[in-house]
Amino acid sequence: MSVTGLIPQCREYEKKEGTFPLDSGFILKADKLSFQQSGLLRQYLKELGLSPDETSSRIISLITEKESVYDEAGFSEEAYTIAVSRESIEIRGVTKEGLARGVQAFRQMLINADSTEIPCCRISDSPRFRWRGMHLDVSRHFFSAEQIKRFISHLALYRFNRLHLHLTDDQGWRIEIKKYPELTRTGAFRSHTLKGHYSKTPRKYEENRYGGFYTQEEMKDLVAYAREREIEIVPEIDMPGHMQAAIAAYPQLGCGFNTPSVRPLWGISQDILNAEESTVSFMQDVLEEILAVFPGKFIHIGGDEVPKYQWENSIRIQERMAELNLGDEEELQSWFIRRMDSFLTSEGRRTIGWDEILEGGLADNAAVMSWRGEEGGIKAAGMEHDVVMTPQSHTYFDHYQARPEEDEPLAIGGYSPLSKVYSYEPVPEELSPDKTERVLGSQGQLWTEYIPDLQQLEYMMFPRVCALAEVLWLPPEKKDYEDFLKRLSLHRRYFRESGINAHPGQE
Ligand code: ACM
Repeated sequence: MSVTGLIPQCREYEKKEGTFPLDSGFILKADKLSFQQSGLLRQYLKELGLSPDETSSRIISLITEKESVYDEAGFSEEAYTIAVSRESIEIRGVTKEGLARGVQAFRQMLINADSTEIPCCRISDSPRFRWRGMHLDVSRHFFSAEQIKRFISHLALYRFNRLHLHLTDDQGWRIEIKKYPELTRTGAFRSHTLKGHYSKTPRKYEENRYGGFYTQEEMKDLVAYAREREIEIVPEIDMPGHMQAAIAAYPQLGCGFNTPSVRPLWGISQDILNAEESTVSFMQDVLEEILAVFPGKFIHIGGDEVPKYQWENSIRIQERMAELNLGDEEELQSWFIRRMDSFLTSEGRRTIGWDEILEGGLADNAAVMSWRGEEGGIKAAGMEHDVVMTPQSHTYFDHYQARPEEDEPLAIGGYSPLSKVYSYEPVPEELSPDKTERVLGSQGQLWTEYIPDLQQLEYMMFPRVCALAEVLWLPPEKKDYEDFLKRLSLHRRYFRESGINAHPGQE
């Protein structure tokens, strides 16, 4: 085990003689591009009771500089080096992103150190994948902006670079859209909520009104908080299914079979969007406001689990399909997604959606998240589309992580223990070598039907998120599960001290 106990482990670590004594004073220096990270580092040091002392001869410096780091740590935008000697600590990044990863690796060294002596060493490091994400469903259960900041801070520490926020679903619409205020006034609240597992009948309900949403101002503040840590928030507006809350707010979006309320139970709603031009415009208006809040490249438009019953049985939808010259309901779904994709493309963004968007034909510029196994990802990569591998089997952290299930808090099902997550290989063997570059990376999913609060969220997240972090960062030949477990035991102190309710198991 390396002395630093880093998770994910760094690629190169060279131990040197001596230590840098943080408590004997230091100056903190940063070049112009490193200014933001030096603010963060100052804060991390302060949390340990350490502040710069202008009279000291010892220096901690942050440098953002392409050439020297590229030479040593490889050609990744996120490469960094850390050099610790008795007199100086130098953290260098290729870019601002690289520097942010270096600062977080150093933050781990501070957290894991038994004292304020940092062992002299040289680290050079860069990640394997460009998409290292966590997903969070804030629809089924709502998490406050403060709680999401805490979530982002954890992600930063483990060198993730994306947070995928699932902002809308049948059970609640969670982002303010100024043009359509009913989306949150009506759509953000449900009158009652299922108690116990969905499969258990007769069903029982909590009778309290439940909900919440983020104003655009709050969300911009979260985006800035994430950006400071070089994490991109990928917003998801799930369509044309998973839209019951929106249809409850604006019934003209639906297929006219009923006028639903915000869905109080889990499972998939039959209420999906209609295919009118006015509905396409409505959703593009929504996306336009989303684009103004989220500056990142990728916009997620869902596309998963669209039950076709209402489309098959609506005379108007069938007429519309004839008008549009579409052969079946899969083609209608594809038409809808294409309309969003061409809008997002014209705005200079990239569409991403769940693997159902392959059905009926994949939109020209769309990237695919492969969740029902790896087949969708393999197919999309074969067609030269980018993919993010998110198979339920290994990356759904709403699944059980230990057995017997009776000893665990209620979960949706499945079984994905720590070792299984650690064993995950995001590039499928079936993929031909010229297509492997299409795999941008992977992310863990936290669907929250059975995750009512922060305590339970962190229980399902930790320590599996640590295993995923290493899957995404290290080349496969550098992975070592036994060594990972040793490093993980050092991180348990951080879990305790930060009040993270991590699962105690290490299997
Ligand atoms: C999904 O789990 N419905 C993407």
